[in-house]
Amino acid sequence: MPEKKIIAVLGATGAQGGGLVRAILRDPQGGFAARAITRNADGEKARELARMGAEVVSADIDNPDGMKKAFEGAYGAYCVTFFWAHFSPEKEIAEVQAMATAAKSAALKHVIWSTLEDTRIWSPLSDPRLPTLHGKYKVPHFDGKGESNHFFSDFGVPTTFLLTSFYWDNFIGFGMGPQRGPDGKLAITLPMGDKKLPGIAAEDIGKCAYGIFKRGNEFIGKTVGITGENLTGTEMAASFSELLGQEVRYNSISPEAYRGLGFPGADDLGNMFQFKRDFNEYFCGARDASFSKSLNPELQDFRTWLKNNKTAILGTQSAAKA
Ligand SMILES: NC(=O)c1ccc[n+]([C@@H]2O[C@H](COP(=O)([O-])OP(=O)(O)OC[C@H]3O[C@@H](n4cnc5c(N)ncnc54)[C@H](OP(=O)(O)O)[C@@H]3O)[C@@H](O)[C@H]2O)c1
Repeated sequence: MPEKKIIAVLGATGAQGGGLVRAILRDPQGGFAARAITRNADGEKARELARMGAEVVSADIDNPDGMKKAFEGAYGAYCVTFFWAHFSPEKEIAEVQAMATAAKSAALKHVIWSTLEDTRIWSPLSDPRLPTLHGKYKVPHFDGKGESNHFFSDFGVPTTFLLTSFYWDNFIGFGMGPQRGPDGKLAITLPMGDKKLPGIAAEDIGKCAYGIFKRGNEFIGKTVGITGENLTGTEMAASFSELLGQEVRYNSISPEAYRGLGFPGADDLGNMFQFKRDFNEYFCGARDASFSKSLNPELQDFRTWLKNNKTAILGTQSAAKA
């Protein structure tokens, strides 16, 4: 039996990386082994991954030497950053530079970099439709990622650039699920107008990434977009209605109103949705569900994801009533 190829996975205790570690471990004949990178190897989530068969190593993406060690001896790596831990594109860019440096120093054969668009290519700073944020960004949590792509190419790291989609899990954990309005009716609120929003179960991102690693060199040097399904707000509300057995409406608000919702990062997310709405043909075109399914045959569509998460969704409903 040839030695397994080690994939070093950042964010292994989180959404994207966790999905990849579990996908690797569920396929013991697949030829890959999972190295789960965490800041806290003694934590419950890390110990659970170890019990499942992952090698667990400690590293912080803000410590370049630790990153190099974490990648040593691996065949490949899954690179992801954690924008919402600090809200700083500059920090994110420095972290990606350190990841690419570590990948080069470990001579990795295949890196998947979980990136997003640098939206300023479509909407330059001079474009008045999207307000400029922090002086030089349109969608800070996208732009820093897209701006960082070049580190991998400049350093000659064999890389697949993975464009992810909105996690449907935000309807559970991020409070975006159906809320009762002043009229007593349930509604989901998004500033997408009648345009489609590519969405995916967070767990499926890692499964798609595993599909990319399994296909060898096919996607090295390529940009690959994944989605579970591209749906309008009305279509998602109809599926929620079916699940909950009562009417859920789609409350389409303006991006300006969304930016003004007042929670941390509302301006960044308001711009993100506006970018997806205003450049919808490009954005949806870059994320294809049948291609994603070819990487991950278990890919969930929205109704399947809702059914699989009914208990958690009902939990948010009773919490909202309490
Ligand atoms: N939410 C969405 O809809 C969406 C959609 C597309 C893309 N994204 C992007 O996804 C990225 C986040 O990925 P995710 O959702 O998989 O993250 P996540 O679920 O929040 O998981 C983050 C994990 O990474 C680890 N981590 C955090 N800071 C770290 C550090 N400094 N060094 C090493 N490990 C660290 C933590 O593990 P330990 O505590 O064990 O170290 C944590 O469990 C963001 O950049 C976001 O922009 C989000």
